[in-house]
Amino acid sequence: MHCTRKLAQDIYWVGADDRRLEKFENLFPIPRGVSYNSYLILDEKTVLMDGADEAVGKVFEENVQYALGGRPLDYLIIQHMEPDHAACIARMVHLYPELKLLGSAQAGMMLKQFFPFDLGDRFETVKEGDILATGNHTLSFIAAPMVHWPEVMMTYDMATQTLFSADAFGTFGALDGHLFADELDFEREWLAEARRYYANIVGKYGGPVQAVLKKFANQQVSVIAPLHGPVWRQNLEYILHKYDLWSRYQPETQGVVICYGSMYGNTANAAAALACRLGEAGVKDLAVYDLSTTHLSTVMGEIWRAGTLVIASPTYNGGLYPPVEALLNDMKALSVQNRRVALIENGSWAPASGRLMRTALEGMKNITLLGNTLTLRSALKESAEEQLDALAKEILAGL
Ligand code: FEO
Repeated sequence: MHCTRKLAQDIYWVGADDRRLEKFENLFPIPRGVSYNSYLILDEKTVLMDGADEAVGKVFEENVQYALGGRPLDYLIIQHMEPDHAACIARMVHLYPELKLLGSAQAGMMLKQFFPFDLGDRFETVKEGDILATGNHTLSFIAAPMVHWPEVMMTYDMATQTLFSADAFGTFGALDGHLFADELDFEREWLAEARRYYANIVGKYGGPVQAVLKKFANQQVSVIAPLHGPVWRQNLEYILHKYDLWSRYQPETQGVVICYGSMYGNTANAAAALACRLGEAGVKDLAVYDLSTTHLSTVMGEIWRAGTLVIASPTYNGGLYPPVEALLNDMKALSVQNRRVALIENGSWAPASGRLMRTALEGMKNITLLGNTLTLRSALKESAEEQLDALAKEILAGL
């Protein structure tokens, strides 16, 4: 049974939702599932934009066959070779023996690496500026290396002004029958997941995202059709602005995110006491996370949102508490920048976590470390009140 939706003149969504996958890339929890978007253009020539994950292969295949209505598939454009989109290429190759595949040179190389078959001249390399005329539609290709792999390209349909944007502008979350962002309450229900997706999947590649944003800055884009999540046909400035901020590593808000590691609740108490002071002082955008119980991808999404971060860590085996160390490693790996960071350290006999956090953060770009570090010796005591107030004051001064 098919499940497709019309996107624009001659263009149909033929993708599928996956609600069975527990972790995207076997790393990131997706409690709301994920959609693998694929788009079919029914013109004089028929063109499929990307495939889907093999987990939804049967549904995807049925959708493509239904939408084609018995017509052959002429072209498959491979914008991205990551298997969440490319795995089903094998199904299409076998179903449609005359199918031509188009992709970047690196996509061609990866096709050979991922699949056992030799496509011979059925694969054709395309590069930026190349055109595919299909009848009423004219598609041009835009190189988008490292958004999110090196072979990535985007595709622009001149007839409908649709930008097929590969992973860019994607989000976690199954579509649940919706297709367009204007059919949902995006800000309330989706923005956090879009940000979490961006930070963790594309976050490291801010420079390449900026480069590709500039490429279509002067082009009229009416629709943005990503490979995951809703399609944008209204209020495009909203998501473009978010992408601009995210890819320049600029915070969206002046909020404060406090994340702590705590073995027995003492470092957690200090984080809570600081949060109370900030809340009392009127900071509305304030969140506290236990790094042992909150998935790192959620914390990274929050770091992408807020301008100030507080990290609190016990000293553990003379080093950092492992969940805190994992956070700092991930911040470096994803190239977090332009944040103010305050520190709370704890150590019962030789506190070292403050120094270690400071050293790790000094190795990152444009991180402003606040001068006051709150040091606990095992537990938060009334005597720490002054230090706590000083830390809160310094945080507040920059908001
Ligand atoms: Fe949705 Fe980078 O794959």
